[in-house]
Amino acid sequence: MITSSSDILKWANSRNIAVGAFNVYNFEGVKAVVEGAEQEGVPVIIQLHPASLERGSKPLIAMALEAARLSTVSISVHLDHIDRIESISEGINAGITSFMPDGSGYDYKENVEFTRLCAEEIISIGGFVEGELGRLSGTEDSVTISDYKALLTDPVLVDDYVIKTKINALAICIGNVHGKYESEPKLDFPRLYKIRETTQLPLVMHGASGLSDEMILQCVLAGISKFNVNTELRQAYISGISEAVNRDITDLLSIMNLCVDKMREIVVVKIRQYSLRHNL
Ligand code: 13P
Repeated sequence: MITSSSDILKWANSRNIAVGAFNVYNFEGVKAVVEGAEQEGVPVIIQLHPASLERGSKPLIAMALEAARLSTVSISVHLDHIDRIESISEGINAGITSFMPDGSGYDYKENVEFTRLCAEEIISIGGFVEGELGRLSGTEDSVTISDYKALLTDPVLVDDYVIKTKINALAICIGNVHGKYESEPKLDFPRLYKIRETTQLPLVMHGASGLSDEMILQCVLAGISKFNVNTELRQAYISGISEAVNRDITDLLSIMNLCVDKMREIVVVKIRQYSLRHNL
């Protein structure tokens, strides 16, 4: 059933666990996320990145919303990394109520202003707003941040940012990066604890691909409620195609199914990690 991101994060919070927010680009992606969540019987967030919308636009949103409606578990559909204010009304008109206005490329004051303006529109329809304080390094789709050094979230600014923007969840930067980690991820946990002391809002970890089991556990215990996963799903999709080629599979439906299977496996592993059920 379709639900709000707020309700999903409340559900996670009341159990001291986290949920997965998975970026998808097409039907196979949507199917893999829904099936993985249904298999595990937990809520999940389907995320659409602006780059996926350029390709799929409204039909992709409609498909994700309908898949959420038809599902046996609670699912919300979230627009990730919005960098144009117009995308908010476009998303609302297409049926979306959950957004991440991404002002992280701006300086602090501009970030507050961009996020506040977007939030005003989202809140007017009773929607959910995720804001980002700090800036993630790395590359995601067409969003490349040349300053490769992460600009980490400053705990001192958190309270001011939350009050001024009226966001419902905060994406934090503690050394997490989008895309592939070039070396062993190093997360600044003391910074995360300070942020957690400053705000009760749900905290979001972008760049969750490539984090070890141990790190994910530490993040959940430290108060991360939402993990964003894109790269590992994309890799799974591509590995499905490679395997099909290597095995001389030429039937299109078989190739699609293989890709869904590969992505669903990742979704299930992540869901178990986020809900602290590694050993089940
Ligand atoms: P990864 O591509 O590193 O999984 O990050 C996904 C993300 O943060 C989407 O917002």
